[in-house]
Amino acid sequence: MADSYADFEAYLQTTASARLADYLELLRIPSISALSEHAGDIRTAAGFVADRLRAAGIEHVEVAETGGHPVVYGDWLHAPRAPTVLVYGHYDVQPVDPLDLWETPPFEPRVENGRVYARGAADDKGQVHLHLAAAAAWLAVRGAFPVNLRYVVEGEEESGSENLERWLEEHRDRLSADVAVISDTGFFEGNLPAITVGLRGMMYAQIDVVGSRLDLHSGSHGGAVMNPALALAEILAGLHDHDGRVAVEGFYDDVVELTGGDRAELARLPFDEEAYRESLGVPALHGERGYTTVERKSARPTLDVNGIWGGFEGEGAKTIIPAHAHAKVSCRLVPDQDPHRVFELVRDRILELAPVGVRVEVRLINTGHPLVTPIDHPATQAAAACIREVFGKAPLFIREGGSVPVACSFASVLSLPVVLLGFTPPDDQAHAPNESMRLDNYELGLRTVIRYWDALAAIGLAASLD
Ligand code: BES
Ligand code: MN
Ligand code: MN
Repeated sequence: MADSYADFEAYLQTTASARLADYLELLRIPSISALSEHAGDIRTAAGFVADRLRAAGIEHVEVAETGGHPVVYGDWLHAPRAPTVLVYGHYDVQPVDPLDLWETPPFEPRVENGRVYARGAADDKGQVHLHLAAAAAWLAVRGAFPVNLRYVVEGEEESGSENLERWLEEHRDRLSADVAVISDTGFFEGNLPAITVGLRGMMYAQIDVVGSRLDLHSGSHGGAVMNPALALAEILAGLHDHDGRVAVEGFYDDVVELTGGDRAELARLPFDEEAYRESLGVPALHGERGYTTVERKSARPTLDVNGIWGGFEGEGAKTIIPAHAHAKVSCRLVPDQDPHRVFELVRDRILELAPVGVRVEVRLINTGHPLVTPIDHPATQAAAACIREVFGKAPLFIREGGSVPVACSFASVLSLPVVLLGFTPPDDQAHAPNESMRLDNYELGLRTVIRYWDALAAIGLAASLD
């Protein structure tokens, strides 16, 4: 089997340095979707992806408007008796602050110790780029793909994919496919090959607590009014009970409980709790009582405070009662929780917890549905076989605590089975300073994708993938 890819191997070896240079070029574009001053860079990154798809030989390539940051679309549909694969990734990245913790600037990629360091190196430009490289390789080496392909590479995943679901709905007819391959997840701790079979959903909201018109002198008025910062602290403290459970009535109602089998699977993962604790630098792990750390961080719902501000934060002392205080809160959701229903429950609980003397408002910022994908689906099993061949180790099947807001839409809007095929090392520091991607994961990931198109073709006709 391995020998039948000798032609690819020769091509990949001669093109290795050009491929790396091209990947670094993509990493130099500061395509931060959350910050409006980078809207132009987002366009540049979209143009880069479109250009490389065209150069590879992908057809109907366009930078399509969505109402937000554009989505890059392209297809190649010349394998009439073979399945159609929809490939998804994102070319936008997270903000880079705190900048002073980066060893070298986030958009000046550095190659060191077999890794590429840059914002987006792993999440998700590395994975997008290896798909671009796989497409170029197939058409250069064999002249045709064994499957039909549609590429959907978006530019606002990191800010909640606000517009992509509608775009998918509007273009449902021209996006017909047999399977969606989402490359925005990664391997397990210790860089163990893995296929993700569960992503959590998301409900993200902001709480605004308002008291007086202006900040008040805390000597003149302290004791006479409710303090908004204190009110916010009371509210936030009321959102969990002493068992670490979310204290919002109805929050767990739609949660599909883990079966004994699910729990046994998760317990089998080679997870070193102490090494994990140590790697995070926390004095102790913490979470919902009655569940293991692996369960709590990937398969149970949570509520977190992402940020909290208000009042005086400067040097020294300033004696005020702040006029207002704010917090960003978010929930990670699991099947079958609905993000909009969870928003209503959390909002109602917050309003109930609000003490007299302040006005409290809760606003929904973004949502994403949870997703569990079928381990026994032939497309998942084919991916596992390719990973085993290329990485030399059968993949673990893991559930991931993170979210890809639009992942569920490929199932719900386009009715596609989803395979979450990603290769980033778990110590990639995505979203944090000094994000990196291991180059050997990139290179082996590329070879896995190359084989995967053959493996999906071998599964056969479109109908058999359902
Ligand atoms: N690639 C991640 C999702 C992810 C995280 C997969 C961890 C595997 C492990 C994605 O880019 C991401 O960061 N999603 C956000 C969504 C949010 C911005 C709506 C997340 O999970 O916080
Ligand atoms: Mn991502
Ligand atoms: Mn991300």
